[in-house]
Amino acid sequence: MVASQKAYKRGTSLPSSNPFQRLAELLDGETPGLDPIIMTIGEPQHAIPDFTAEVLAENMAGFRRYPPINGTPEFRAAIAAWLDRRYQLNGLVDPEHGVLPLNGSREGLSFGAISARDQLDKGLDHPAVILPNPFYQTYAAAAHVADAQAVLLDAVPGNNFLPDLTSLDADLLDETVAFYIASPTNPEGHAADIAYWQRLIGLARKHRFFIFADECYSEIYRDTPPPGILEAARDMGGDLSNIVVLNSLSKRSNLAGLRCGFAAGDPEFLRKWAKFRGLAAPQVPLPAQAVAVRAYQDEAHVAENRRLYNDKFEVAERHLGPILGPVTPEAGFFLWLDIGRWGDAVSVTKALWRDAGVKVLPGSYLASDQSDGSNPGRTYIRISLTAPLVQTDTALRRLANWLGDKA
Ligand SMILES: Cc1ncc(COP(=O)(O)O)c(C=O)c1O
Repeated sequence: MVASQKAYKRGTSLPSSNPFQRLAELLDGETPGLDPIIMTIGEPQHAIPDFTAEVLAENMAGFRRYPPINGTPEFRAAIAAWLDRRYQLNGLVDPEHGVLPLNGSREGLSFGAISARDQLDKGLDHPAVILPNPFYQTYAAAAHVADAQAVLLDAVPGNNFLPDLTSLDADLLDETVAFYIASPTNPEGHAADIAYWQRLIGLARKHRFFIFADECYSEIYRDTPPPGILEAARDMGGDLSNIVVLNSLSKRSNLAGLRCGFAAGDPEFLRKWAKFRGLAAPQVPLPAQAVAVRAYQDEAHVAENRRLYNDKFEVAERHLGPILGPVTPEAGFFLWLDIGRWGDAVSVTKALWRDAGVKVLPGSYLASDQSDGSNPGRTYIRISLTAPLVQTDTALRRLANWLGDKA
């Protein structure tokens, strides 16, 4: 095997269950040692913006209508204007043709690869869809739906928890129709820099594939806003071809249940995708779009959201820093902790539940085994800092005590 092929594995099939179902099976029959604290699910718990109810009430009549698949003009304008402010795009995203509403970014991620495959028409039985490993499991579902081969690229500390773009064979890239990547990453909370994005854009154009840039954690950062792929495209002359960025109100505005997000970027891709979506995809209810219009015009609630997460990361640093070293990622709301000194992720997860009543997610459940049997999540656990501060404090103190006791 040549060195460049070690980073990826082909043909991974759809995981048979999601990481939370696997965790439930793992802990089935196990009794928590102390009153349980759940630190697994990435569902934001901070307050929803206070204008939400008012906007929904004002737009109630909209629930009677089937919404247009490409959204309201107000929605598209609000998204294009927000992208402009956030990334200084100087009008690069045309509200008319460069924005589509989604039922959350997950829905767009699921439907992306199949349209990429159709639009590119590379004439392959099973084109490739590239994913990072660990990965948000919907990317694998998207590859499955598109009847494509998932190709997993390890995202490990040595390459800043991002797929190594220098290790890819030209043949693989020629067969690729979609490249899924989150930045900031889940679970590790690292962000791609402009040079990384530009290298990826260059590859996408040379080898003809679409980039699905999942930026749903873009607003949950510590102090520096992570760069986005659209900014990178701006600096390359402003061409948006081959680029689809996805984002939503779920993390930014604590509105995961509203199911409202957007795709923006390549106008030609979006035009054809909207046609397909007009047949296949769920539309976004008009009152939800109205909330989005308001939410994307308000940064105060987002700043408050960041402040609350930062408080919890301070607590994490205080409890865990002395044992594990710095644990705070540049973005996102997860701790991604290397617990290899204490065992593998699954056994540590079980022991933490039994001994300390703290439920965490084994990193290996967020990744797939590579062909050499390795799993880049094998020595990691993911802890979501979505619970209230007091609960977070208790859980992390228990975790620190457990690590200290077993060291
Ligand atoms: C990396 C990643 N992408 C997408 C999503 C889906 O988010 P949304 O609520 O926008 O569909 C999540 C949700 O946890 C996520 O972690």
